[in-house]
Amino acid sequence: MKISIGKEFPQYFQPAYPEEFELFSHFEITAGIPTVLFAITTWKENGKPNVCFHSWSCFHGDKTAFFAVMGNLYQHTHTYANIQREQCFCINFLPISAYDQLVATIHHNDEETDEFSAGHFSLVHAKTIHAPMIQEAFINMECTLKETRDLSGAGITSMVIGQVQHISVEETYAQGYEKRYGKDGFMMLVPAPQDLITGEPNPSAIATVHIEKYD
Ligand SMILES: Cc1cc2nc3c(=O)[nH]c(=O)nc-3n(C[C@H](O)[C@H](O)[C@H](O)COP(=O)(O)O)c2cc1C
Repeated sequence: MKISIGKEFPQYFQPAYPEEFELFSHFEITAGIPTVLFAITTWKENGKPNVCFHSWSCFHGDKTAFFAVMGNLYQHTHTYANIQREQCFCINFLPISAYDQLVATIHHNDEETDEFSAGHFSLVHAKTIHAPMIQEAFINMECTLKETRDLSGAGITSMVIGQVQHISVEETYAQGYEKRYGKDGFMMLVPAPQDLITGEPNPSAIATVHIEKYD
């Protein structure tokens, strides 16, 4: 038997915190689909570097171009404004050991704050675009803005698509699976899977990848 959840908010769903369902669709925590975590880095208007801990994205292309599709960036963030102004951004993949540093950039988020200092990250300049990058990341992706689209039309979030211009990979991650797909590799967000029987909330979880087989 399948549990059926429609567009109408299920009244038995309890929020994990008061504003949860002001921010997120109940479908997100109904499905609980994991997506990779990363940091978006941009310049603020005043020249200070900005870090945004982010997820809700996918990465794909064809032989002519490769895209970072950030499906759900909040329009109120510095990052959204910075990307609109600069027309570019970097994506930085960090291991789970950097989680607390990335959360520190959420709590130090003023216009005047150097968020690289707040997170104790080293800044390097992107090679092909005007954006800061995190030295400690094992992969840096330089993107130019391809398109933004407010999918719901509600003025809350936007799908921001970057066209990848350049990728830098730490040499120790250049071979094999162990570094990229283990505790030192990609960090994933498991978005707060709701108890669909009782409606009770659960916390989000942070995961790493465990390879089961090769194809
Ligand atoms: C795992 C995770 C947790 C987050 N937690 C928060 C949070 O508690 N509060 C918040 O405002 N944004 C949270 N965010 C969203 C953004 O990281 C945050 O709004 C960011 O600081 C916006 O930065 P900016 O305004 O400098 O672009 C979270 C993102 C992720 C991926």
